[in-house]
Amino acid sequence: MLALMLLPLTAMATEVKSPNGNIVLNFTVEDGRPTYSMSYKGKEVVRPSHLGLELAKDKHASMGMDERDLMDGFRLDKEETSEYDETWQPVWGETRDIRNHYNEYAATLSQHWLSAPPASKNGARLQPRQHRRTILIRFRVYDDGIGFRYEFPQQPELNYFLIKEERSEFAMTGDHKAWWLPGDYDTQEQETQETKLSEIRDRFQEAVNWGNSSVAVFSPTGVQTSLQMKSEDGLYINIHEAACLDYATMHLELVDAETKTLSTKLQGNSNAYTPSPATIPGGSASGYPLPQPFTFVSHLTPDATGLKGAMQTPCETPWRTVMVSDDARDMLSSNLILNLNEPCKLEDTSWIHPTKYCGVWWEMIVGRGNWHYTNDFPSIQLDKIDWSKVKPNGTHKANNENVKRYIDFAAKNGLDEVLVEGWNVGWEDWANMWKRDVFDFVTPYPDFDIKMLNDYAHSKGVKLLMHHETSSSTQNYERHMVEAFNLMNKYGYDAVKTGYVGDIIPRGDHHYSQSMNNHYLYVVKEAAKHHIMVNAHEATRPTGICRTYPNLVGNESARGTEYEAFGGSRPDHTCILPFTRLQGGPMDYTPGIFVTKLSEWSNNPSWARITLAGSLALYLTMYSPLQMAADLPENYEKFDDAFQFIRDVACDWDESIYLEAEPADYITVARKAKKTDNWFIGGKCDENGHKSTIKLDFLDKGKKYDCTIYADAKDAHYETNPQAYTITKKVVKAGDVLKLTEAPGGGFAISLIAK
Ligand code: NOJ
Ligand code: CA
Repeated sequence: MLALMLLPLTAMATEVKSPNGNIVLNFTVEDGRPTYSMSYKGKEVVRPSHLGLELAKDKHASMGMDERDLMDGFRLDKEETSEYDETWQPVWGETRDIRNHYNEYAATLSQHWLSAPPASKNGARLQPRQHRRTILIRFRVYDDGIGFRYEFPQQPELNYFLIKEERSEFAMTGDHKAWWLPGDYDTQEQETQETKLSEIRDRFQEAVNWGNSSVAVFSPTGVQTSLQMKSEDGLYINIHEAACLDYATMHLELVDAETKTLSTKLQGNSNAYTPSPATIPGGSASGYPLPQPFTFVSHLTPDATGLKGAMQTPCETPWRTVMVSDDARDMLSSNLILNLNEPCKLEDTSWIHPTKYCGVWWEMIVGRGNWHYTNDFPSIQLDKIDWSKVKPNGTHKANNENVKRYIDFAAKNGLDEVLVEGWNVGWEDWANMWKRDVFDFVTPYPDFDIKMLNDYAHSKGVKLLMHHETSSSTQNYERHMVEAFNLMNKYGYDAVKTGYVGDIIPRGDHHYSQSMNNHYLYVVKEAAKHHIMVNAHEATRPTGICRTYPNLVGNESARGTEYEAFGGSRPDHTCILPFTRLQGGPMDYTPGIFVTKLSEWSNNPSWARITLAGSLALYLTMYSPLQMAADLPENYEKFDDAFQFIRDVACDWDESIYLEAEPADYITVARKAKKTDNWFIGGKCDENGHKSTIKLDFLDKGKKYDCTIYADAKDAHYETNPQAYTITKKVVKAGDVLKLTEAPGGGFAISLIAK
């Protein structure tokens, strides 16, 4: 499978083609700087772009900390190419088989320099000392994109180093349209902006003018990945990263077309994070020539000291990815990010399972109940309160009676688990107090009988789903984690939703720094030892590590359904996320809001900009092995005929076929449920509505299917008539055609059960 070949060394650029030849990568060392470019079907996608890293000066330099930049002065020593082709099976996923087929190219580069000779004792002339360092840049060229990373072998001249900034460039060919989030070290829950690259700066202030407890923007042209773009000549281009392990999360900073600079200080924005000089990738200030306009430069998340990474060789960076196609559907079906991650490291994965769940959650998010138990204390010190003597506030929702109601609902409707938030003491002053010892994750409130409720759930074939809100107090969580996981094992929980609301404690660190990324991975690995699945909210955006650790079954890491209770999200939001946030792994979006006008059952004036049929579509278009039915049981009971779809829909698949897609406009996907002959189809559109014609040519020939279509009624509209839907039943076969009309902000869901 692995064919190794040594190429002759030449000053010309080396060309590496993808297996079908559509993508061509060029690599060269130009004036001592590693430089790559990339094309797709003969069209330039990435213009010549430099690669390198700036290293930080450190007080430990004399102890062997290497601090020469890895930016220039390189020589190309060796080139190796190989081809790889394997097919692997994920533990859960959109398809049963995933083909990992690429051509690899690794360039070995060296830097050489002389240092002053040591002082001579006897007057003899000593020779200057010769130094040499080696790094590798490895590319994998796929039919749907490329990945590249830096590798740092262990060697005398490169052992320990601190990263001041990674300077990987992505030079775009023009003023593409982009769907972007402002680059931010602590949140990724903004609405997506849709502008041309040249308009990012002007839109930036508006984009960061929103409410979140933890915001740290760094540049008016800084954006997050995964960044989806579309060029004027119809290429879909996506930049992200894969396998971000022991490394800081990458943002992208656009070289400003007007000022041709990076990191201009933000004006008049109270949320603005002012970078310390050490964190500013200063372009010409660092002495390296500035790249061309429309070039993105990597910008890593700093730690509390402003530095971007502490490295010890041998080590490597995450993969930087550029996906490209002239068909938007390929952006959604691509497995490039998963493929660039290591195979599964867990020996036994039998305990990992796709999960449909409901939860004691939405009523608190909407504001009809509370996580906390009492209103009687100005602040809480966990070890000083006798909870049995505390006066309850009467609005605490994680109480025995209410939890039992959800368990009954789950059991009746075939849902696997029930999330219960607010079950453990500490919610009285949990967020934004810089308080370290917020929760102990093992002590239930007096009205939550942990044994009784788990026994009750198990007797009905349901499990409880644990909740650990850490309030970003990570040391506290790490101190209590093993005990907390032992408690879960004792009572039969097999999944935990974690959360990282608020600024990171210890203070100064950021949600997406190297140290925090290590924390999230530590939780996933410890959980695996306890056979616990993890769904981490507010943690760093995923980069496909669920391939390696498939007990990481979900992340939030974007603007989820909760924002429908905080003013709402635009109707096109869920037609963008699969192109951006979902590239790195599934999102716990918590879909399924049937009663979209929250004032119908609460005092909350907010409303979800989606029709009921559109809510059903999300179970298909927002792929996740973990799917919540987020609305209240009583709201589902009012629309029980439509809820049938949520009862029926699978969340693990043998096959997925994206039938239609355009970022921010519409997505239609057909999926075959794992180990069955049943298919489900979902279509979701933006505020403009959409018409779909679906040819059922993917069904098994010779089989008949009971087809149930949940569609928007003629007059449905996400604002004026969201609950107008029709349910149509018929028998269909391969080759039949279905015509569907999606209302503004609407969608459809179809089940096809093999007869
Ligand atoms: C934010 C999470 O996204 C939400 O789901 C959770 O309920 C709250 N934090 C409290 O943990
Ligand atoms: Ca649109």
